[in-house]
Amino acid sequence: MILGLETSCDETAAAVITEDGQILANVISSQADLHARYGGVVPEVASRRHLELVTPVLQEALRDAGAELDDVELVAVTAGPGLIGALLVGVAAAKAIAWARRLPLAAVDHLQGHIASLYLQPEPVPPPFLCLLASGGHTMLLDVQDRATKAQVLGTTLDDAAGEAFDKGARLLGLGYPGGAEIDRLAREGDPAAYDLPVARVPGLDFSFSGLKTALLYAVKELSADELERRRADLAASYQSAIVRALVEKARQAADELGTSRIAVVGGVAANSELRAALPPSTALAPLPLCTDNAAMIASAARFSDPIQYPRYLGLDAYASTA
Ligand code: KG4
Ligand code: ZN
Repeated sequence: MILGLETSCDETAAAVITEDGQILANVISSQADLHARYGGVVPEVASRRHLELVTPVLQEALRDAGAELDDVELVAVTAGPGLIGALLVGVAAAKAIAWARRLPLAAVDHLQGHIASLYLQPEPVPPPFLCLLASGGHTMLLDVQDRATKAQVLGTTLDDAAGEAFDKGARLLGLGYPGGAEIDRLAREGDPAAYDLPVARVPGLDFSFSGLKTALLYAVKELSADELERRRADLAASYQSAIVRALVEKARQAADELGTSRIAVVGGVAANSELRAALPPSTALAPLPLCTDNAAMIASAARFSDPIQYPRYLGLDAYASTA
């Protein structure tokens, strides 16, 4: 059994999976409510909460899996990228568990983890494929050739990530945090053609979402409080559809350039219902509960990594960003 831990942002998560990718337990404790009043994640608050939650979440995962620490053969943990203080909580916990049992430890890259959400049972998606990774921190088009090698980055965002655009847009609309799911819900009641909110046209396979956010800001500024109340769903629908259009267009373009029809989508934004519907029917979509941050995907990635043997991981460091 593989025990996975994920604490890179505001989810404290632990999972137990088997070597062949069956999920035995997948516990996620979201801190969203804790950060909602600030309109975004406060790093120091997140670290402290991870510290309180990591042990109970881990115990719950083992309980759900009907397992004990003695059943664990490999410990997997997100080493980065993410909030450094938050990552350190997971890394320290993972080291302690692995060291006490002389187990190997896999230091997993969070983005590799998102991709590896596709390799879990019951319907694993084997590479090669063109992968759109869209989360709160990243928006990338990746050429994934196999499970073990680092994917080649074909395009990335020049400014905001897609999920960040959702979160910032939601804030401008007076919706809660995190904003993606809120906009997704409200957009169903609105007209996506009501507002012309263009996404900046960037050459090649890169993205840019910061101009869109400014367009929304100006549209909102023109409205009185009453008008905003009436038009909020239309604004949400128009805003969402602009983000989705950009993601789908570039994903198609990248697939064409790669000469593949196999597209896969992972990350928090992959949960978006309009995005899921707008992609070609053959697109492999990460299962909904595995789109947003979780530890099952981290344990999954560990299966295709080179774990560090006892006790060499004691000096392992977390990293905030990929250089
Ligand atoms: O992958 P994830 O959980 O964390 C990061 O690695 O960043 O992604 C979180 C992001 C947030 O920005 C959130 O607003 C967005 O995913 N998100 C969504 C939806 N659910 C979550 N965006 C659009 N539609 C959704 N249904
Ligand atoms: Zn993530």
